[in-house]
Amino acid sequence: MSIKEKAVDLIRNNRTSLPTLPVVINNIIITARSEKTSAKNLADFIVNDQAISARILKVANSAYYGMPKKIDSISRAIVIMGFREIISLALGTGVFSALSQKGKDVRFDMTELWKHTIGVGFAARKVVKKTAMTVNESTFLAGLLHDIGKIIFSVYFPDEYREVLEKTVTGQAPLYNIEKESLGLDHAEMAYLLMKQWNFPADIIQPVRYHHDQSACPEEQLYMAMAINAANFICHQSGIGQSGNKNIQQDDKVLERLGLSDQDIVTLAEELESERSQVEDFLEALS
Ligand SMILES: [Fe+2]
Ligand SMILES: [Fe+2]
Repeated sequence: MSIKEKAVDLIRNNRTSLPTLPVVINNIIITARSEKTSAKNLADFIVNDQAISARILKVANSAYYGMPKKIDSISRAIVIMGFREIISLALGTGVFSALSQKGKDVRFDMTELWKHTIGVGFAARKVVKKTAMTVNESTFLAGLLHDIGKIIFSVYFPDEYREVLEKTVTGQAPLYNIEKESLGLDHAEMAYLLMKQWNFPADIIQPVRYHHDQSACPEEQLYMAMAINAANFICHQSGIGQSGNKNIQQDDKVLERLGLSDQDIVTLAEELESERSQVEDFLEALS
């Protein structure tokens, strides 16, 4: 069986070893799909899970949000930050807790990978703001989750993935190309398979799936997929975290379509670099 077949099998069979989302997160996803759901219903789910509530409040009070006063309850957080934002934070913290314990025996440092993904979340918001689109609550989450396929590879296919990472050292090809060649699928597709299993909404799944190659991306999510693509490059330029990729390229066509100049990229990368301690705070709050 190829790694791709094994990966599909792993997800389809829903083996117990596959990371599962905390029950509360599953409930949130299912409930959020229903038209009759109110903010109150969902808030109740969150409040019932103390661990998740505590984490959300920690993140909401982190330097990133720069709240003038301490937010001490989920209902207050919903009023101040917005309902969708809190749902998005709940999903982010849920995925983080499902995956952060995993992936010990690999060549790259998981802490650095999470810093990279948080940095991409920050950068994605900057890109969306800069290109005059309204910031959608899924923007940060899509950034935070864009590289989780790497964690799945590390945990379930450690030997094969170690070989893949060894091949990146020369920096001759981007990591996702080496993954595709060696494993039959890249980390973006791996993340897609997992998030589909988790029933994540399309506005998060698709930008993650197409963050390295937008050619087959549905029109509806194309802008966000390009925003994550550019944010990934910006985060690499800022030197925050590490993604395991040694060959970083930016498709000029993406920048052109987003309306970003090379100078914009430099400016946004500098801005992100100056927020390094906020990225670290955010990781600390999530952990
Ligand atoms: Fe990636
Ligand atoms: Fe990345």
